[in-house]
Amino acid sequence: MFNNRSRIKELLTSDKTNYQTTVMGWVRTFRNNQFIALNDGSTNNNLQVVVALGSLDETTIKRITTGACIKAVGEIIPSLGKGQKVELIANSVEILGDSDAEKFPLQPKKHSLEFLREIAHLRFRTNTFGAIFRVRHALAFAVHEFFNKKNFVYLHTPIITASDAEGAGEMFKVTTLPLDGTAPKNEDGSINFKDDFFGRSTNLTVSGQLEGELAAMAFSDIYTFGPTFRAENSNTARHLAEFWMIEPEMAFSDLEDNMNIAEEFIKYIIKYAMDNNREDLEFLSQRLEEEEKSKPQNERSEMGLIEKLEFVVNNDFERITYTEAIDILRESNHNKKKKFQYLINEWGIDLQSEHERYLVEKHFKKPVILTNYPKDIKAFYMRQNDDGKTVAAMDILAPGIGEIVGGSQREERLDKLTQRMNEMHIPTEELDWYLDTRRFGACPHAGFGLGFERMVLFVTGMGNIRDVIPFPRYPKSASF
Ligand code: 4AD
Ligand code: MG
Repeated sequence: MFNNRSRIKELLTSDKTNYQTTVMGWVRTFRNNQFIALNDGSTNNNLQVVVALGSLDETTIKRITTGACIKAVGEIIPSLGKGQKVELIANSVEILGDSDAEKFPLQPKKHSLEFLREIAHLRFRTNTFGAIFRVRHALAFAVHEFFNKKNFVYLHTPIITASDAEGAGEMFKVTTLPLDGTAPKNEDGSINFKDDFFGRSTNLTVSGQLEGELAAMAFSDIYTFGPTFRAENSNTARHLAEFWMIEPEMAFSDLEDNMNIAEEFIKYIIKYAMDNNREDLEFLSQRLEEEEKSKPQNERSEMGLIEKLEFVVNNDFERITYTEAIDILRESNHNKKKKFQYLINEWGIDLQSEHERYLVEKHFKKPVILTNYPKDIKAFYMRQNDDGKTVAAMDILAPGIGEIVGGSQREERLDKLTQRMNEMHIPTEELDWYLDTRRFGACPHAGFGLGFERMVLFVTGMGNIRDVIPFPRYPKSASF
């Protein structure tokens, strides 16, 4: 058996000393031909491995370079140096994988996030990305824990689909037809998908919601957690072309039930990360503080990262209607002084991220749930309110991010739903299976989608969504 090693995190957090053990990991630095800072990804803290003078031959010493992978065997002793409780005095060091110091792009110094994005295959080996992706893991785990405790069924919805769940048409096509112009055509010149792999036109899914609703009409409560795809040409720090979404769907629920569970859920997963990833969050908090030093005073955040997370966990989200939000925005000095790029004049307009962030960061200074949007700027499946103008939608807006959750109570009344679909030119024949839920045992139900990367962005305090998913996909970029 090869893998009889101790994890560095366990060694560093235990008080036990004076025993033999084996560690394996990657060399962060090697000082004075004697002190190796070794990291195995279990924590950002390195184990100091001390090579006893004269115990290793010259060639092995030369091969202990930044980035190299090694196995060290020796004794754990109380550390003489500052900053660590224990260290390992190595009797033997074996090089598992060499790393040419001249060519290894990660030097023991600070690299820019932009540079690290170009070497995303190696950036896991930095402190920042080590912390980010351990926190991402914890959040993902907490998602499952939260819903499992509440007896939700985890539903795997399809990734290839023929429907456009959001009706927004921002989809990636999936086809095996030739792209050289020889694909079969209809009389009107359009592509004839009858000969395509699935015998019809298909896309990568933008959301698992519609399928989720089908299952909620049997299990009561379900959630999805999977990749979703949007071909929107949004080159921003908040958008990805491939992102992960969590979509719970609850039978016997209205808009208020929906808001309650969404708020409880967000607080639960943040709390989980705070309880289980303290060290990483403290590291990220410090990173943010450093980064903010280069910003002008008025752009710095009022709270530190951990303080912000605690605040969110311990305070109620603000709940207001779209109409109230429009009034606040219209009357704001920001609007009057024309500081918004898109000025707020009339009811009915879609909110831009500058408006969302004004409400959350300047006005309420806490997460805000906006409800009852105009029906014309929301999807066809949202439940129509009695005023004939609005739908039972809810978006949750988070400080520094903007929209983090989108959801609604669903239109369960068949006649209202088909009427809305017709108005919006959504083909009812293609969604006949969806309409069946309204024909056979419909009930009030609701659900929402949380953008997982936006959540990770919020919890880690990072500024760009491309830094919280291992291999980001965005316009003109699909490396690795
Ligand atoms: O608001 P959206 O489009 O809602 C839906 O897809 C619904 N079907 C959800 C539901 O009710 N089950 O997307 C939900 C969330 C957004 O609030 C945002 O956090 C995230 O998904 N999101 C994106 N995240 C990263 N990159 C993008 N391009 C995103 N588009 C949406
Ligand atoms: Mg939305």
